[in-house]
Amino acid sequence: MSAAPVSVIGLGVMGSALADAMLAAGHPTTVWNRTASKSDELVTRGAHRAGTVAAALAASRVVVVCVLDNSVAHQLLDEAAGEVAGRTIVNLTNGTPAQARHLAAWVGEHGGEYLDGGIMATPPMIGGPDAYVLYSGQASALERVRPVLERFGGVNHVGEDPGLAALYDLALLSGMYGMLAGWFQSFAMVTSEGVAAGEFATLLGPWLQAMATYLTPIAEEVDAKSDLPDDAPLPAHIAALANIATAGAAQGVRADLLAPLRELFERAAAAGKVSLAGLVDVLHAGATAGRTAHA
Ligand SMILES: NC(=O)c1ccc[n+]([C@@H]2O[C@H](COP(=O)([O-])OP(=O)(O)OC[C@H]3O[C@@H](n4cnc5c(N)ncnc54)[C@H](OP(=O)(O)O)[C@@H]3O)[C@@H](O)[C@H]2O)c1
Repeated sequence: MSAAPVSVIGLGVMGSALADAMLAAGHPTTVWNRTASKSDELVTRGAHRAGTVAAALAASRVVVVCVLDNSVAHQLLDEAAGEVAGRTIVNLTNGTPAQARHLAAWVGEHGGEYLDGGIMATPPMIGGPDAYVLYSGQASALERVRPVLERFGGVNHVGEDPGLAALYDLALLSGMYGMLAGWFQSFAMVTSEGVAAGEFATLLGPWLQAMATYLTPIAEEVDAKSDLPDDAPLPAHIAALANIATAGAAQGVRADLLAPLRELFERAAAAGKVSLAGLVDVLHAGATAGRTAHA
């Protein structure tokens, strides 16, 4: 059976990698990008360049969208609203759960099927063994286009609610950015005394790996809504975070990156919490607006 035609809207670094994976797998590939010159290389390799978004949609039943954000994605789809019927729009643009639900409803109203996706890979990883994409939306729609989606990497369907892939994606990114904040603070502190970051990384890496073993036990406590004392009490964490701020100031290193974390620990302690799992409760408080039954 020949490979299904696919259109790719958006040829930034990620969209180009997605289009490249389509071409490499032999899919007749139509591309559109605001800056048309970014499609030159793909066209040389066999892609068809669409003059408009509507022409890109008209060319294929499967349409992959990967642009800066969902307001751009929606604006582009709006320009081609008359071509949405009968198509599966696979939106791999990073966005929020509410945006995904809104786009899913809009595509449905225009007679199309909608899958939202969160790409858990960098462009060079696309099509490789470590890449995977989170998808949400109707399972039946996903199964129809699975052979296309598998070209990008693993297919991880997280639920029929179209907002769930964005929720998972942003939660995974939260973990990554929290980790990066720690890296930056560590490197700034040691390099302020002339210690090479590369040398220090040989200590930081194993330390973080050892700490990561607490991930599952703490997650289980969060699920059990338990708040039992941990190996290190909250006041000890608060004192350490205060010391990071004081030492940072003395070293000429900004320590405000971790200030909100210290504030969270202090609020948790003031609320009578005794565990790291209890901090999640404090984060929930006061942030219920916009949550759905899935939150
Ligand atoms: N790069 C990654 O590692 C990575 C990983 C996972 C997910 N993602 C997600 O993939 C999406 C694209 O990211 P990227 O890395 O490819 O970024 P990028 O290289 O900056 O590409 C942005 C794309 O959006 C288009 N665009 C921006 N504003 C536009 C507008 N007003 N009208 C029409 N098109 C517009 C750009 O068109 P022009 O070329 O004309 O500027 C370009 O095609 C983002 O949602 C990002 O979060 C990226």
